[in-house]
Amino acid sequence: MGTNRVGVGSVYLLACLILGALRSCNGGISSSYARSNSISADMPLNSDVFAVPPGYNSPQQVHITQGDHEGKGVIISWVTPDEPGSSEVIYWAENSELKKHAVGTVVTYKYYNYSSPYIHHCTIKNLEYDTKYFYEVGIGNAKRQFWFITPPEVGPDVPYTFGLIGDLGQTFDSNRTLTHYESNPAKGKAVLFVGDLSYADAYPLHDNNRWDSWARFVERSVAYQPWIWSAGNHEIDFLPEYGETEPFKPYTHRYYVPYKSSGSTSPLWYSIKRASAYIIVMSSYSAYGMYTPQYKWLMSELPKVNRSETPWLIVVMHCPLYSSYVHHYMEGETMRVMYEQYFVQYKVDVVFSGHVHAYERTGRVSNIAYNIENGLCTPRNDGLAPVYITIGDGGNQEGLLYEMVDPQPRYSAYREPSYGHGIFDIKNKTHAYFAWHRNQDGYAVEGDSLWFENLYWKSSQDSLSTSF
Ligand SMILES: [Fe+2]
Repeated sequence: MGTNRVGVGSVYLLACLILGALRSCNGGISSSYARSNSISADMPLNSDVFAVPPGYNSPQQVHITQGDHEGKGVIISWVTPDEPGSSEVIYWAENSELKKHAVGTVVTYKYYNYSSPYIHHCTIKNLEYDTKYFYEVGIGNAKRQFWFITPPEVGPDVPYTFGLIGDLGQTFDSNRTLTHYESNPAKGKAVLFVGDLSYADAYPLHDNNRWDSWARFVERSVAYQPWIWSAGNHEIDFLPEYGETEPFKPYTHRYYVPYKSSGSTSPLWYSIKRASAYIIVMSSYSAYGMYTPQYKWLMSELPKVNRSETPWLIVVMHCPLYSSYVHHYMEGETMRVMYEQYFVQYKVDVVFSGHVHAYERTGRVSNIAYNIENGLCTPRNDGLAPVYITIGDGGNQEGLLYEMVDPQPRYSAYREPSYGHGIFDIKNKTHAYFAWHRNQDGYAVEGDSLWFENLYWKSSQDSLSTSF
């Protein structure tokens, strides 16, 4: 007995020592992992990551995203600096000699005293699923070749791995985040980007040359795997004192998305299917109240999701609905009041956001009972509600956010201000594994992780068990 007590005491002591590194509060875990509090500087424009490819008018800033609703299409975008050149893409399947051609469009825009280079967008459709394609852009001595792999055919049990990156910017830390993601053995096949791309608006007159340099920086990943875009506040580029009154002008000229194929009227909100996932991208910085275009679209969109075809329902929006960091605290509250009820009703598995430059994961919680009189305005555990993950820790020049609401609210399961990326690894229709990777760690170390039980599957099991 005495031995047992010593044993229990030792285990308790050991647990205390282990947890000593972590500060436990009312809610979950606030990591005390201490990263140095230095604000990262942007990489100089002459850094090799920003290098302009050789050759006259050589294509640069090459990036791809999904080009249709099902995953058989790709939008290929690139920039030519000197003259329009050609908007043609030549592409062929890995095991085929047959080279196909597609011709896109070229656009330019002006932003105060900045004139954009020539921005090409070419949509390729009706590709084979699960196939490696090579593609070539540019002409003459300035041809450049890349490749991508199309996703497997849409279906409920199809494994697929998404990377999560947000608020990336173009600092030395941004470069570490991207490198860490690229070399992660979990091998993300597409990135869900949770907004705030270049941070060009941090420069005088929102120096759009930093949009160009950012696109050269990330080309090494996004030319080879699609990044699914969502817009953050740093994409708004609203500068009325200099006559720039069209929100999202640089972003929407540079980053085309397949919004029309999901019946959306704006590139700022849309949906795609990819393997066993249904991804809904929303805009935190566009009108979203009742009767607005975004609201109407979402209300017609959610009932269309066929969970027996795509069991994993993922929402991406820049501003988190749940965050317990002091900076940006409750900025997502009006959006939460507006939409959380539908996320719960339609059993959204996970909502990924950025904006807060840190990492946080909630438990499965909901807070939808309030009706102005009943006082029921506290988040409660709800096994069939989404998990909310904030992953705005890409490494931009604004630095990390350290100040947290104290004590840790009960809805918050884990929070830590470190740079990193996430991997959402769908195993089958019932389970997915999420891991958050700090830049400083090897891949064997997961800063945070969670097994996801698919909510559609789980709720159908629950109803089966209660019907007996
Ligand atoms: Fe943001």
